[in-house]
Amino acid sequence: MCGIIGYIGRRQAGPILLEGLKRLEYRGYDSAGVCVLSSNGNLSIVRVLGKIAKLEERLKAGLPNGTAGLGHSRWATHGRPSEENAHPHTDCSGELVLVHNGIIENYLELKEELIRRGHVFRSETDTEVLAHLFEEELRRLQTSDFSAKGGSVSGGKLQTSDFRLQTSDKAVLAAVNRVTKKLRGAYAIVIAAKRWGRQIVGIRKDCPLVIGCADGESFLASDVPALLPFTKKVIFMNDNEAAVLREGRAPRLYTTTGKPVHRAPQDVPWDPLMAEKGGFKHFMHKEIHEGPRSFEDTLRARTYEENLTSLLAEIGLTPQSAADISRIQFLACGTAHHAGMVGEYLFEKWAGLAAKADIASEFRYSARNLQPGTLVIAVSQSGETADTLAAVRMAKSCKGVLTAGIVNQIGSTLTRETGGTLYTRCGPEIGVASTKAYLAQLAAIYLLALAFGKARGSISSREFRSLTEELLELPHKLRVVLAGLERPVTELAREFQDSKGFLYLGRHVLYPIALEGALKLKEISYIHAEGYAAGEMKHGPIALIDREMPVFVFNPKGCGLYEKMRSNIEEARARGGRILAVITKGDAKMSRMAYRVMEIPSASHEFFEPVLCVAAAQLFAYHMANLKGLDVDQPRNLAKSVTVE
Ligand code: F6R
Repeated sequence: MCGIIGYIGRRQAGPILLEGLKRLEYRGYDSAGVCVLSSNGNLSIVRVLGKIAKLEERLKAGLPNGTAGLGHSRWATHGRPSEENAHPHTDCSGELVLVHNGIIENYLELKEELIRRGHVFRSETDTEVLAHLFEEELRRLQTSDFSAKGGSVSGGKLQTSDFRLQTSDKAVLAAVNRVTKKLRGAYAIVIAAKRWGRQIVGIRKDCPLVIGCADGESFLASDVPALLPFTKKVIFMNDNEAAVLREGRAPRLYTTTGKPVHRAPQDVPWDPLMAEKGGFKHFMHKEIHEGPRSFEDTLRARTYEENLTSLLAEIGLTPQSAADISRIQFLACGTAHHAGMVGEYLFEKWAGLAAKADIASEFRYSARNLQPGTLVIAVSQSGETADTLAAVRMAKSCKGVLTAGIVNQIGSTLTRETGGTLYTRCGPEIGVASTKAYLAQLAAIYLLALAFGKARGSISSREFRSLTEELLELPHKLRVVLAGLERPVTELAREFQDSKGFLYLGRHVLYPIALEGALKLKEISYIHAEGYAAGEMKHGPIALIDREMPVFVFNPKGCGLYEKMRSNIEEARARGGRILAVITKGDAKMSRMAYRVMEIPSASHEFFEPVLCVAAAQLFAYHMANLKGLDVDQPRNLAKSVTVE
């Protein structure tokens, strides 16, 4: 997603900030900006819509000298890509400047309060509230009673108009403590203030922030690659920590409540390319591990019952108009279509609505006359898939049909063609095979199915609350799955890397996961794989099974058709098929049945099992392709965004 770089030292900051931002370009962005702090305390901000090269061009026209500063590349989440929304952001008086990655969940509430207190906003971002909140804290310090010199940090009680004290770590942390207490969400923030003099401050919660240490100079960055041209000595910040960086002094680390933290710098042995991939060999592998985060970010601030109206407003509906919808039609291609297929089950069960997922390339040429009252939900990572766009246009020609999108790329064509967009928040996906985007699409579909269920009265407030609580636990469980399966799945891939074909079987909500598992394997390892609804086996594909046809099955215990699935697996086993089974940890019956198992925790609700099961399939496909030495991130014949028919 967005990239951050901060610098303080003896060298000119401008070129360092630009170099750092260039090292983060691979993450994708739509706008960028820097601020240089000059020695006389001026803050000079330059921002552009577009590429770093454009920013560089603008800076050539003249950037004030200064040996400290901060920079940012933005990938829009709140507010369209534009110069006004680009970072750095500043407060009303231009007293301070900051950049931010992450999402401030309660920014609307905070913004309303700040506006009531007279603040004027210049952007549509959630970030800007941070600038105004810090402005208030700095003003409070300046105007408050001089007598309490050296006041305590906790509770932000430090009160002084003494300049030396105002620039002390204590004063900085008092402001940090008071502001962060008001925030809900995820953030990595780098901030500089005229009143703080020559120092920059980094704050982290749930978003990466790394300190770079060098002789007489220090850096802050969202990612190691931005630091590698300058230093390999880094300190990884933890959640709820703040770092105070000053020229000529080693960075100081604290908790956001002001307690000193002692953590020695460590050497990162990565080369620049490895660093871009976060230490992973391939982007796809990194992105599989970003699945939990992408799921979590997509849910952020959208699961509360009181936010139901604003969630539905994202797709252009109200609770009333949602209640009036009579049918759901998903349209999508490939992996996104498999997300829509999971949606069929969720909408039917939770919202009591007939729901169908169609492949856009088929739908666009069908003679389907959608009924009035149908809501078309187009699912797309890129928002530019030609067939999905054409299918949506075709659907719009049917009378009384409403359209919405679940899209990752802000401002993409699909977002302009539908009545509203629920954005997934997984950041740019670089590997051609979709992994973290799929998790985010599932998260968005869970949100909508629950919101429709609530709006239509088919689930109670109690059910809504308990389901959303379980939903919010999934990212943690997904992390457990990824950590636990990495090694066994690598071994499994080693054992099966020469197999010529695979069958993937699932039932009910895990049928789309069988399709997705097979698709992942095909597209990156070039091994033929067939995804099937396990109940269909007897009607043909069972003839394929022998010892040379491994059968990859999904049968966690929570699954509604667990026993039925076991019978299907037994049938495959009886024909010599070696069963590779994704099962609930400790399920002895399934363990006895399977040739090899991949154990996952219970998802607590059968409808949430797809989230955990798909991670096993993604990892397996990845390791198969990696062991074969294939170009995992750019498989042959494939493009990331299919903009032609
Ligand atoms: C598979 C994959 C593709 C895409 C499909 C739709 O890993 O990435 O199947 O899911 O091309 O793309 P979007 O989501 O951009 O519409």
